[in-house]
Amino acid sequence: MQSLSVAQISDVLEALSPERRETLEVRLERWWPDVHAGLSAVYRPDQVPELESRLLRVVARAFAERGPELARLDQARTLDPGWFQSEQMIGYACYADRFAGTLQGVREHIDYLRELGVTYLHLMPVLQPREGDNDGGYAVADYRQVRADLGSVDDLRSLATDLRENGISLVADLVLNHVAREHAWAAAARAGDQRYRDYFYVHPDRTVPDAFEATLPEVFPDFAPGSFTWDDDLAGWVWTTFNSWQWDVNWSNPDVFVEYADIVLFLASLGVEVVRLDAIAFVWKELGTNCQNRPQVHAITQALRALVRVAAPAVIFKAEAIVAPQDLVHYLGQGAHHGKVSDLAYHNSLMVQVWSMLAAQDVRLAVRALQAMPPVPASTAWITYLRCHDDIGWAIDDADAAAVGLDGFAHRAFLSDWYTGGYPTSPATGLVFQANPATGDRRVSGTAAALVGLDRAVAEGDPGATQKAIDRLLLAHAIVMGFGGIPVLWMGDELGLPNDDAWASEPGHADDNRWVHRPRMPWDVAETRHTPGVVPERVFAGVRHLVDVRRATAHLDASVPARVLGASDPGVLAVLRRHPLGPFLALYNITDEWRAWPGHRLVELGLGTAHDLLSGLDLDAGADGNVWLAPLASHWLVRG
Ligand code: GLC
Repeated sequence: MQSLSVAQISDVLEALSPERRETLEVRLERWWPDVHAGLSAVYRPDQVPELESRLLRVVARAFAERGPELARLDQARTLDPGWFQSEQMIGYACYADRFAGTLQGVREHIDYLRELGVTYLHLMPVLQPREGDNDGGYAVADYRQVRADLGSVDDLRSLATDLRENGISLVADLVLNHVAREHAWAAAARAGDQRYRDYFYVHPDRTVPDAFEATLPEVFPDFAPGSFTWDDDLAGWVWTTFNSWQWDVNWSNPDVFVEYADIVLFLASLGVEVVRLDAIAFVWKELGTNCQNRPQVHAITQALRALVRVAAPAVIFKAEAIVAPQDLVHYLGQGAHHGKVSDLAYHNSLMVQVWSMLAAQDVRLAVRALQAMPPVPASTAWITYLRCHDDIGWAIDDADAAAVGLDGFAHRAFLSDWYTGGYPTSPATGLVFQANPATGDRRVSGTAAALVGLDRAVAEGDPGATQKAIDRLLLAHAIVMGFGGIPVLWMGDELGLPNDDAWASEPGHADDNRWVHRPRMPWDVAETRHTPGVVPERVFAGVRHLVDVRRATAHLDASVPARVLGASDPGVLAVLRRHPLGPFLALYNITDEWRAWPGHRLVELGLGTAHDLLSGLDLDAGADGNVWLAPLASHWLVRG
C-alpha cells in the first residue's frame, strides 16, 4: 500500500477480533490508493505522509467503534453496492421542524412516509446552527450537537435506527464549504489563534479579495453582495461566498481535511446513510477562476469517500452542485475520478428543463441539453427532483439554446417572467429571487403547485384550470419519477401545497423568499388526502400512483441509463431505457393539445405492442399510423 504502514495503528488492530481486523485490512488495501491519489492531487508532497498517518488513525478508530448493527449494514451494502439505484427508492426532503416539530415528531410520522413509499429521507440541516438567521441551518455552529429545539444527538441516532427498521435511509447535510461565524474554529480565529485563523481565508486588505472578485459570480447579490466580509475581530476580510456570517473554510489546509473526515465519520456513526455534500462546488478557490467546480473538489471528494468506505461502507455521498450541465457530470465521476466521487448528484439540468418545457410547450431545448450530457458511471444515480428547498436558477447553456434557435439570455428571461407572473398568459405565481442587475439573472421561488398555476386556479375557483394545473403537476412528477435515479419529493408537493403567504413573518426570513416554498406541514390538510375530490387528494393519489408503478418497474433501476430521444413532435418528450428485461419508453405530451407519436418508431424500438404501465392499457397506433397522446399525458411503455 502506497506510503501506508498499518503498524502505526497496531494498538487499534490488536483490540479487534481477528475477523474485524481482517475486514479493516482488506478495506484499507482496497481504498487507501484512492485516499492517497486524492490527497496527492491537492496537497504538497511534503504534507501528504503526515496527513495520511493522521487519517489512518481517525478512520481506524471509527471502524473500531462502529456498532454491530451498522457493521452488519456495512456488510449487507458491500454485497449490494447498487442498493440506492433500485426502482424501489423514493426520496422525501423536509425540514424536521416544519414537517413535524422535532425529531421525535418525525418518528411519529414515519407511517405517513411509508404510505408514500419513501425509502430515503433527507432531513434538512439538523446540527446546531448559529443563533438568529442561519440560512435554514446551513450556518453550522457545532457539528457535534443537534439543534436543541429538535432534540439531542441520541434522538437523531434513535430516529435513524427507527427509519432503518422501516426501510428508510436517513440523509443528512455535511456543510463543508463554510461554518457559522460563531463556530468554535471561527471564534478561536477571532480571538487571535493563528492555527484557527489558517482554517479560513483572511486578508488584511482588499488586494487579494479584489483580485478574486474580478472573476467571482455572486451567490446572494441581493442580501449578501460580494464574497468577502470585513471582520473587526479578525482585522481582516474573510471569505464569505454566501452570507456574511457563513465563513468559507480553507480546504488547502490539511488540518481542515482531517476535521471534516472526523465529522463525516461522526455522522456515519449516528446512522446517517447518505451524506449530502452541501455547496461542494465551492470548496476550492483559484485566482482567475469563478472558484467553482475546480478539479481539486473532485480529488478531495475522492479521498473523503474512500476514507468513509474503509470505516462505514454503508454510507454513500450525494453532491449538492447546482451548476451548469457540463460541470455537473464531474460530480458523479469522469475521467480519473470515474466511480470514485459522489454516488448521487442532483440532476439540476433535468429539473430546469422540466420547467422550461412546461413554459415553452416545446421539448427541443430539453432534448438537446439532455442529449449533450456525457454518460455518468453505471455505479451512480441521479437525484431527480421537481422542487427542493432552494430557488430555481436557469442553468441553461447558451450553446444548447443557440443549437435550437433560441437566445439563451432571452429564454432565461422568459422563464423568469413566466414563473413570476410577468408573462400575460402564464398562470404561475412564483416570486423573483435574487435579481442581479449586473447579469440580468432572476431566480425563482415558489412551490411546485404555485409554479404550475394551481394556486391561482384554486384561488379563482376555476375547476377547468384546476384540473389542468393538477395534470401539469402530475406530468412533471411523472418525468421526474420515470427518469431513473432517486426521485425526491419536496415536502408538500405530494399534496400540491400552495405558496406560504406568511413566509416573511418569521424572524430572519423576510429577506429570503425561498421561505415561500418552505411551509409548515399543515397536517389538517394532509388528513384530507383520502377525501375524494379535494385538491390534496387528487395530487396525493396521482403521486402515489406514480410511486406504485415505479416500484413495480425494474426497468427504472438507475444502473440503466436514460436516453432522451430526438423529438418527432416538439410537444412530446421521449425517454428510452434499454433494460435487460426489454425496452422502457416514456412518452410525455407536455402541451395542452393532442399530439402524435409515430407508430413505426414504437416498432423500431421493439415496442410493437406497447403496454402502458400507468394506465394499464395497450397503446395502439390509429389508422393514420400515429399514436395519439392526450394533452399533458404520460405513458410508461414496455413490451406488451
Ligand atoms: C446549499 C443549500 C442552500 C444554502 C447554501 C449555502 O446550496 O441548498 O440552501 O443556502 O448551500 O449553505
